[in-house]
Amino acid sequence: MRRMLVTGGAGFIGSNFVHDTVRSFPEVELTVLDLLTYAGSQRNLDAVSDRITFVHGDICDSSLVDGLVRDTDVVVHFAAESHVDNSLNDPSPFIRTNIVGTFTLLEAVRKHGVRLHHISTDEVFGDLPLDSDDQFTEQTAYDPSSPYSASKAGSDMLVRAWVRSYGVQATISNCANNYGPYQHVEKLIPRQITNVLLGDRPKLYGAGDNVREWTHVTDHNTAVHRIITAGRIGETYLIGSGDERSNRQIVSELLTLMNHPADAYDHVPDRPGHDLRYSNNTTKLRTELGWAPTYDFTAGLRATIEWYRENSAWWKPAKSATEAKYKLLGR
Ligand code: NAD
Ligand code: DAU
Repeated sequence: MRRMLVTGGAGFIGSNFVHDTVRSFPEVELTVLDLLTYAGSQRNLDAVSDRITFVHGDICDSSLVDGLVRDTDVVVHFAAESHVDNSLNDPSPFIRTNIVGTFTLLEAVRKHGVRLHHISTDEVFGDLPLDSDDQFTEQTAYDPSSPYSASKAGSDMLVRAWVRSYGVQATISNCANNYGPYQHVEKLIPRQITNVLLGDRPKLYGAGDNVREWTHVTDHNTAVHRIITAGRIGETYLIGSGDERSNRQIVSELLTLMNHPADAYDHVPDRPGHDLRYSNNTTKLRTELGWAPTYDFTAGLRATIEWYRENSAWWKPAKSATEAKYKLLGR
């Protein structure tokens, strides 16, 4: 797998994946295909710009995709519309990019016999009760709640069908919430860190009891590399650190780490259809592929706070537009 095409490589997880790949697999020839939506920036790839080929384009553009896939050995597919709140406000780009875009890639890998790894989310499974130890497994039935998760569920189903019907060489991974550098300020952790840095208060949806499982983006990407190199074709692998926290705990922890009172946050109206809790059982990935997370959550959160403190030039241009969007939603 000498030549790799990374879709969505200018976004949060994709750009971290490109950095990690350049560092750990210097022999790989990397091409990034990204539309540079509001969520992507070529600046995220500045440090590796001389090591990659960047193509500004759309995964729904079948002739562009066909030409790029023809000249690669493996496609790692991160490109997506990724934010639940945006999907509730306007689902249409989610249907287009997440479903039609994945279909376009599948047709190209089918034609050229190219390996595909599809990046997905635990949100396809719906949610779990708050007061339980239940977990999602690779066998959990799909039950998505939001337009975002429904569009990702649709894309996963297409990949499974192309594997079964056409023998496409594909794998899927479903990861829980990621955090780390280069995450857009619309997401929970960067939004609250940057609020505090600007002297504003963090905003908690509803009571703040909803629970998420937080995985450092580098641990996610290590798992993706394991699956690309050793995963079984046609299989799905769940990824997650096991670090579950309520949103209130997250906000309190980051306020404390930033030397503010732990309760210096505001409650805002809840997200409609808000999933209660996510938790992935990662036994398959750990036992079959020997993966384990390496990040301690508090240390990772502290490093992430420092990254946003030191990179205000990166996030400030997007901050006011993002907060203006939230203001319209009342959140
Ligand atoms: P992101 O929103 O930060 O980045 C998405 C990237 O895709 C951007 O660079 C954007 O420009 C690009 N893109 C969007 N539409 C495109 C199109 N039509 N053609 C080409 N490029 C396009 O997203 P992220 O948080 O990095 O998520 C990456 C992937 O990981 C997504 O598939 C998401 O569903 C999945 N995922 C995310 C998380 C998380 O916590 N962020 C967790 C699990 C899975
Ligand atoms: O589980 C994986 C998913 O994690 C990915 O598939 C998505 O792409 C990614 O965006 C993320 O989805 P969430 O909806 O869980 O992430 P978000 O950062 O939007 O919110 C995390 C939790 O925090 C959620 O319960 C809503 C809450 N929240 C969010 C924001 C932005 C708040 O309480 N306040 C906020 O300001």
